[in-house]
Amino acid sequence: MADHTKKSDKAWDAARLPDLTGRTAVVTGANSGIGLTASDALARAGAHVVLAVRDPERGRAAAAKVSGSTEVRRLDLADLSSVREFADGWQGRPLDLLINNAGVMMLPRQRTADGFEMQFGTNHLGHFALTNLLLPYITDRVVTVSSTAHRWFGARIRFEDLDFASGYDPQRAYAQSKLANLLFTLELQRRLTESGSPVRALAAHPGYAATNLQSHAGNPVMRALMKVGNRFFAQDDRAGALPTLYAATQDLPGASYVGPDGLAEMRGTPTLVGRSAAASDAAVARRLWTVSEELTGVGAPVGQAGRAARVDAER
Ligand SMILES: NC(=O)c1ccc[n+]([C@@H]2O[C@H](COP(=O)([O-])OP(=O)(O)OC[C@H]3O[C@@H](n4cnc5c(N)ncnc54)[C@H](OP(=O)(O)O)[C@@H]3O)[C@@H](O)[C@H]2O)c1
Repeated sequence: MADHTKKSDKAWDAARLPDLTGRTAVVTGANSGIGLTASDALARAGAHVVLAVRDPERGRAAAAKVSGSTEVRRLDLADLSSVREFADGWQGRPLDLLINNAGVMMLPRQRTADGFEMQFGTNHLGHFALTNLLLPYITDRVVTVSSTAHRWFGARIRFEDLDFASGYDPQRAYAQSKLANLLFTLELQRRLTESGSPVRALAAHPGYAATNLQSHAGNPVMRALMKVGNRFFAQDDRAGALPTLYAATQDLPGASYVGPDGLAEMRGTPTLVGRSAAASDAAVARRLWTVSEELTGVGAPVGQAGRAARVDAER
């Protein structure tokens, strides 16, 4: 396997994607920002891309901008019945690539349909349930989009108060949800390895990319600051999608974390990046997995990863 830890390849961009003809990818939050750009790049490389979006009409408008084979399917990660409906509708097709990209950031306090704090519920629990429900069909890998925000305020998983019921802080809640994305990847890969599955779980982060993400912050001062940041510091969504595409297609070890190689990982070319100590804590990752199973009611068929798809293909 190539050593990706030495230095990043400055020339790497979406034009360097391998031929993905015959492969199927699901991208959550594919109607906007990094999800839309990543979908376009995957489809241009030949993949059939399923745009998993909460508003099918906006999904179809987005699909019209994608060059290649697409399909739009409804998925609201903030509603576990929608996640189950999406998975039920998958109907045993092999799925090469699941990209857990959708996300919300720093919203004013809101709850999901199932009563969870919105950022943890959407960014982590929705993807946790989706991944485990689709796992029997996944043949290659799961890429989950995290953030450098997983380090904010020395973030940790607040098992005693996951929902911030004792006092909501939108920044800390976002940081917790993005830390959960990394811990989920760590534990998923551990379970895949333990069961002898060839499926890989990886994580990526886009650095700082100007997208719609920054427009939902409840705090007007934060929104104004991010508007300035988007204008002067951020890279565009095309560059922001590169770490996701790199994690999705390059020969990297399971549990790898890919981000931009520039100053403070804000921009640049994809490379392997570090994570906080909290994001490397295997015991916390296991505990989060158990709690997520309890909260979502979705158990993990990890030993089954890819099995249904293989049986289906052999028929
Ligand atoms: N942009 C950055 O600088 C940055 C930095 C670090 C990490 N990230 C991460 O990158 C990922 C993509 O964000 P982005 O920057 O591309 O932002 P974006 O343009 O706002 O895209 C987010 C996508 O997530 C979708 N989404 C939100 N809630 C959903 C739900 N309940 N069910 C299904 N889809 C839902 C949105 O759909 P709607 O259009 O319907 O709202 C949208 O398609 C996120 O995970 C984010 O945390 C971004």
